[in-house]
Parts: sequence; C-alpha cells; structure tokens
Amino acid sequence: MKFFLDSANIDEIEEIASLGLLDGVTTNPSLVAKEDGQSSFKEIIKKICKIAKGPVSAEVISTTYNEMIEEAMVLSKIDKHVVIKLPMTKDGIKATNFLSKKKIPVNVTLIFTASQAILAAKAGAAYVSPFVGRLDDISADGMNLISDLSQIFGNYGFHTEILVASIRSPEHIVQSSLLGADVATLPYSVMLQLFKHPLTDIGIEKFLSDWNKK
Ligand code: G3P
Repeated sequence: MKFFLDSANIDEIEEIASLGLLDGVTTNPSLVAKEDGQSSFKEIIKKICKIAKGPVSAEVISTTYNEMIEEAMVLSKIDKHVVIKLPMTKDGIKATNFLSKKKIPVNVTLIFTASQAILAAKAGAAYVSPFVGRLDDISADGMNLISDLSQIFGNYGFHTEILVASIRSPEHIVQSSLLGADVATLPYSVMLQLFKHPLTDIGIEKFLSDWNKK
C-alpha cells in the first residue's frame, strides 16, 4: 500500500520524505488555508512536488465545469506530479472525463458511497478518495465502503486506485491494507502513531537500564 501524506505543511512533508516513507501527498483547501499566507497556492504545490517526487493532489475551488477545467489546466502545468482533485459532483465528473482523456490524472474527492466511486471510475479517474473517518463520524462504517470498492473495482478491472482518505487512526490503515486499498493518505499525526506501542518504549527502557547495570 502506498503512503501519501495528507498535508500542505512543508516541514511535515520533508520529515516523512526523509524517513523514506513518502509516496505522494494530498492537499485540500482546508489544509492549504492552515498554512502561512506568505506563499501562493501555486508556490506551495510547486514546493511539495519538489519534495514528494510522486503524485501530489491539488484541489480546484471552482464548482462549475468550465471553471474547473480552466483551473485544472493551470494547476497541471505546475509540475508533472500534479494530480487534479475534483469534487464528486456532475460538473466534477464531466471534468474528470475531459481531463482523463487528455491524460491529466484526476483524484475524485468527497466519495461517500460505492455508486459515487463507480461514476468516478467510469469517468476515468486515476484515484477515488473515500472519506472513511467522516463516515465513521456519522455512525456509518467507512471500512465497509473500502471493502465494497475493492470488490467492485476488481470485478470490472477498473484502473482507478482506491485512495483511503479522512483517516483517523492506525487501525484504519491496517483494515485498509487487509482490504487491498491501493493508497492511504495519512495526516501527519496518524503517520507518527503508526510507530508507537507502549511495550516498544518499555522494552527500550528496560534494555538500556539492564545494560547500564552491568
Ligand atoms: O484529504 C481529505 C481528508 O483530509 C479529509 O480528512 O479529517 O478532514 O475528514 P478529514
């Protein structure tokens, strides 16, 4: 399973890249808005692409087809690694069809049902982003959606990759990998949680204290 970092923070992206764990990055307007206002959106995406050297999702803020295409064309020229992130709407799917035919990769975001994911895959999306955490937040089951998508995409040989988004915990990663998801996009905090177990810390402490007693 590929690991993308769900972040627009350059320090976080650099740190995870330095660990050799970064396969790509996803951003969204909320994540970009959290960063300092010194750099423009284009500059931030350019910097991220330089570090990531893999797919970097940049989301449009337009909501109509023509504006989405206009925005996507500008974003896709920033770097060869840019993936255009489009919302799961009629206009978004129409734009996905257009851009995919032009070999510009698209990540269709805000996917909450299998039927939405089927539409995105049929439109030629390179990725679909099912939001598992937000489904869990409303007492639905995000992992059921991943299981359904894994089966459906396998049934029809869709090339669209399942990019698990809105991840809240290491357990989401484990379950997603058991279900064969292609990519997980992790917030920085969850990426760090993957390393941790209290018995690992206790074990290190014990080894060192025993060593120091000799
Ligand atoms: O990339 C989409 C994802 O970041 C949404 O996560 O935590 O805002 O539901 P969250």
